[in-house]
Amino acid sequence: MWGSATASYQIEGGVGEGGRGRSIWDTFSHTPGKTLNGDTGDVADDHFHRWRQDVRHIADLGLDAYRFSIAWPRVQPGGSGEFNPEGIGFYSDLLDALLAVGVKPVVTLYHWDLPQELQDAGGWTNRATAEAFARYARRMAEEFGDRVEVWTTLNEPWCTALLGYGSGVHAPGISDPVAALRAIHHLNLAHGLAVREIRDVLGASAKVSITLNLHVVRPDDPSSQADLEAKRKADEIANESFLGPLLEGAYPAGLLERTASLTDWSFVRDGDLEAIHRPLTVLGVNYYSTARVRAWSGQGQRQQADGHKDSAGNPWIGAEDVEFLPQPGPHTAMGWNIEPAGLTDLLLQLHDRYPDLALMVTENGAAFDDEVTVTDGVARVHDPRRVQYLHDHVEALGLARDKGADVRGYFAWSLLDNFEWAYGYDRRFGIIHVDYDTQERLWKDSAHWYHRLVTTGALPAVTDTEPR
Ligand code: FCB
Repeated sequence: MWGSATASYQIEGGVGEGGRGRSIWDTFSHTPGKTLNGDTGDVADDHFHRWRQDVRHIADLGLDAYRFSIAWPRVQPGGSGEFNPEGIGFYSDLLDALLAVGVKPVVTLYHWDLPQELQDAGGWTNRATAEAFARYARRMAEEFGDRVEVWTTLNEPWCTALLGYGSGVHAPGISDPVAALRAIHHLNLAHGLAVREIRDVLGASAKVSITLNLHVVRPDDPSSQADLEAKRKADEIANESFLGPLLEGAYPAGLLERTASLTDWSFVRDGDLEAIHRPLTVLGVNYYSTARVRAWSGQGQRQQADGHKDSAGNPWIGAEDVEFLPQPGPHTAMGWNIEPAGLTDLLLQLHDRYPDLALMVTENGAAFDDEVTVTDGVARVHDPRRVQYLHDHVEALGLARDKGADVRGYFAWSLLDNFEWAYGYDRRFGIIHVDYDTQERLWKDSAHWYHRLVTTGALPAVTDTEPR
């Protein structure tokens, strides 16, 4: 399944329209100093008004599937209580339009835009949010169940918990390790409860999924016990705190031990782990780059080149004595190192560990400083580094498949340039360029290249970027 992905707050705009309630990203982006240039998602790509045109681009690209998210506050403004028919109608029309052009909808129920009212009651630190999420998921299954190909409960719960409540660089901007640990658990629980509801409505064959941003963590010196231990600590908070409960029914013992002075984890109640540990149809994997760690000597400034925005708060709970070292280049405009082999490694490691688990790369892509050039009156965006990035990562995915990993799909992030969270509109990930003054869409070379790939199923040369 070849696709491309977006997320509601990053593209929709129309934040005050159609009965939508406020989300934590409205509040956060409107708080001075939280996003680059004070950018907000108020207008974004104006997809709320231009979605028909965007569906045409999806169809013209020849995509098999489109991954998008439902804005919870658009369909249920306060996150509990009344649903909003206008919001439900918006996604209903979008689903119909996708199906009409033969594109399979892969729907994420939560891509970070929590209704503000739920945040006011504690957000993901509050168990009631997980219960509210399950009710919202049930209603979405009832409304859209016949039209959705794959249901993804949560996108990157690590970011929600650790960047939202740990380092505070994402909404709601809290830096409190205990809040972050509670958020981890309530997100896992929300997933489990939602899966139960979706299957209750749609039957056991409903395709359910969750998307994780698993970190590929490499020890600086693989022969050093201390560095291997540093890797283990980083892995536990980055990966095992989700893989453990979701796929094995337990939190990592090391993490529980190292955080015992912070919390007794009594927010994990009897029966929770059983509720979380349910079969997944497919695991979504988002992959961009790798990380390198070593044990910190305790001297001088601890390096934290982990690819996430700098902050006073530390998202690496239970790994406070681990240093993240800058990675050798090349790098994207995010400062992320480009290492396609990391994707092969990640998919193969997952396959070794969970041989029967189907996988799907639900995001992969790169930000670069794109430029529109006009030659003989024809506007183009030549983005050879993005073409190369996509080419090399699709190839890396193919290698993992050749070695047995059951990878069912690949989604380029992103269909459109969009609101890149704390980095606002400064970082462009789209294969389609968006002029934010005119809202004009323009296929970059990478879109032409991707079109070749998805319509032929064979990896085109990186030079194969001419318009049809
Ligand atoms: C991921 C997010 C996605 C996008 C990319 C660049 O962490 O899921 O929304 O911002 O990074």
